[in-house]
Amino acid sequence: MTGISDHRETGPDATDLPEGPRVALVTGGGGDIGGVTCERLARDGWTVAVTDLDPDAAERVAARIAASGGSARATRMDVADPDDIRTAVDLIGREYGRVDAVVCAAGIEPPQDLAAIEVSAWDLTLDVNVRGPALLAQAVLPWWRRQRSGSLVTITSRTWLGGAHPAYAASKAGLVGLTRSLALELGPIGVTANAVAPSFVRTRFSAQRGDERLLDAYAERARAATPLGVLVRPEDVANAVAFLASDQAARITGEVLHVCAGSQLPLFVR
Ligand SMILES: NC(=O)c1ccc[n+]([C@@H]2O[C@H](COP(=O)([O-])OP(=O)(O)OC[C@H]3O[C@@H](n4cnc5c(N)ncnc54)[C@H](O)[C@@H]3O)[C@@H](O)[C@H]2O)c1
Repeated sequence: MTGISDHRETGPDATDLPEGPRVALVTGGGGDIGGVTCERLARDGWTVAVTDLDPDAAERVAARIAASGGSARATRMDVADPDDIRTAVDLIGREYGRVDAVVCAAGIEPPQDLAAIEVSAWDLTLDVNVRGPALLAQAVLPWWRRQRSGSLVTITSRTWLGGAHPAYAASKAGLVGLTRSLALELGPIGVTANAVAPSFVRTRFSAQRGDERLLDAYAERARAATPLGVLVRPEDVANAVAFLASDQAARITGEVLHVCAGSQLPLFVR
């Protein structure tokens, strides 16, 4: 059987684990959901490696954490680039001597609809949203093995059930499959793997749906479509991630936690 563990590994060579706060590595940490999640993890006592394709965005989040007394470092990492992933994980692992939680918040949605989308956009969507988390887990594996503990939390989307751009929905469904597979593979070394599936959250990401007026109308439709009648906020997603990354969830793995005010439920009539 070939699996994530069969590939060549770089990583830790010492056997002593450093004392001190555990380390959470967050991709897309410069984004809206990723940034709020980094700040929440820092408040929970994690040392946070804020990574993003956009180094300035990552830097701003790390600076906010430091200003409020937390511990963070910013690192540029492009999750679509396998070499970049290995280099960044190596850098972060060697600086802190450990990598405990990995949160995959980096994500993109192609702007075109099915008729217009180009092959390069399909490929990039899958590379960022699915292959990136897989290669990141592979790069962190030596650290998890050494620690015999850890957690992987992927941010998928309610649309893994369908309902978004086909390439995006396919990538987020693929991410659920990946996460569940990794739960099986990583379980024996004490590492959990779970997914968080938010519905529409008003962020920079959603701004691509159009101008403010269009977005207001979309947000209202999204709110009205939930049984709870509310929109999900970045902090709601961060709460779920923080729980699944923590020891409180040490016996939970392979789950998809929908943070979508009930909109994952089949259509209902009120
Ligand atoms: N906003 C929503 O409605 C919503 C709903 C469900 C799921 N999500 C998911 O939540 C996650 C965060 O979304 P957000 O709304 O905060 O969006 P955002 O655009 O604010 O954040 C995404 C971040 O990912 C980074 N990124 C993009 N490509 C990257 C790459 N190749 N390597 C590293 N980083 C890269 C961006 O620079 C950005 O900082 C995404 O995975 C998204 O699919 C968002």
